[in-house]
Amino acid sequence: MTILNQKQILLGITGGIAAYKSVELLRLLKKAGANVDVAMTAAALRFVGKTTFEVLSENPVITDLWEDSHGSVAHIDVAARCDAAVIAPATANCIAKLAHGLADDALTTTFLAVTAPILICPAMNTHMYENIRVQRNLDILEQDGVHILDPDTGTLACKTTGPGRLPDPWVIVDRIVHMLTAQDFAGRQVLVSAGPTLEPIDPVRFLSNHSSGKMGYAVARAAEMRGASVTLVTGPVNVTPPVGVNTVFVQTCNDMAEAMLAHMDAADIIIQVAAVADFRPDQQKNLKIKKTSDQDGMTLTLVQNPDILKTMGDCKRPDQFLVGFAAETHDLAASAVKKIEKKHLDMIAANRVGGEDTGFQTDTNKLSVFLKDGSQTDIPLMDKQAVAHSLLDIILAQLERRR
Ligand code: PMT
Repeated sequence: MTILNQKQILLGITGGIAAYKSVELLRLLKKAGANVDVAMTAAALRFVGKTTFEVLSENPVITDLWEDSHGSVAHIDVAARCDAAVIAPATANCIAKLAHGLADDALTTTFLAVTAPILICPAMNTHMYENIRVQRNLDILEQDGVHILDPDTGTLACKTTGPGRLPDPWVIVDRIVHMLTAQDFAGRQVLVSAGPTLEPIDPVRFLSNHSSGKMGYAVARAAEMRGASVTLVTGPVNVTPPVGVNTVFVQTCNDMAEAMLAHMDAADIIIQVAAVADFRPDQQKNLKIKKTSDQDGMTLTLVQNPDILKTMGDCKRPDQFLVGFAAETHDLAASAVKKIEKKHLDMIAANRVGGEDTGFQTDTNKLSVFLKDGSQTDIPLMDKQAVAHSLLDIILAQLERRR
């Protein structure tokens, strides 16, 4: 979330039950280093007190155009100084006023003066949300360049089930980061794989590896943040899928091969981060293999899995950019360069595995990136999200050079 550091965010809160989630939203923004100004409607104050937001934001909260002026035009000042503005939750009433340029309270007046990007997070009863008039107002705002975060679907406070729930605060923060990020991958289709594959032996046992999915998910998230349309094909992991990414869940190497090849045609950039199992048991038993008391051991026969990356390298179009990863314990450069040739790649990113701060499971990584012409760029040890952005910078530079 480093992009939020030192950024000025305006947080508007209107009168819905979800207003309590705005406390956590404010806390997350502050934790990410943002300075936050808060504006609340009179209805919002009925759900959560002003003091909570004043203490957490360390700023006066705007609730009244006349009482909070402190000798200056406070609402104009906060509108002018913000880098991004968000209304969460946004009621149907507030959405209607913003869509039609009405400014009859402190919040709507303040937001009318904002020139920075605005994110609106509607939260209300499902029937209200689906009402044609609310949808029309949201369309007007969207056409005006206002960002809209669709509500979550679930059981609402009014006991209705359907769309209308305010998304989790971390999702709202994620979308604010998205608004502030340069969209230098806009218009590009990126296909990423992540995680391990899992090769079943019987219904309870499998062969796999230590991949946590963190590196591949970071690459998918970074590409989406920068405006790409992203498909992520992932083996089984415990990482939350990135917001805004089309995520396809697979288990085995064969499943992953099928999913990658199905999405490959539409992709401009393909980044194979997954740790694919090279072998699988020759047969998958339908029943659990029983251990017998007189058994010394057992032999498992393995057969080779398809090499997904090589298959893609063999059939890729000249306009597609194919990136492989190489997990090495030693001879990093020599092994990685061999893989570029063997698998017909445009680029390979090699990382050392088996160490404490790079490779499998870790939150950090360090990459040596090799191009077809043998040139090398090193990405220093950083958290995997930052490493992913540096990798995308290198890819973008290569694509610019192709033009
Ligand atoms: O998931 P994390 O815990 O964050 O860990 C990240 C990572 C270490 C898994 C990742 O950074 C990484 O190195 N991924 C590649 C792992 C790997 O399989 O490396 P390899 O050198 O064995 O394979 C080379 C390339 O061929 C890889 O892009 C791999 O996806 C691909 N491959 C390999 C075998 C196979 N049958 N099909 C393939 O497509």
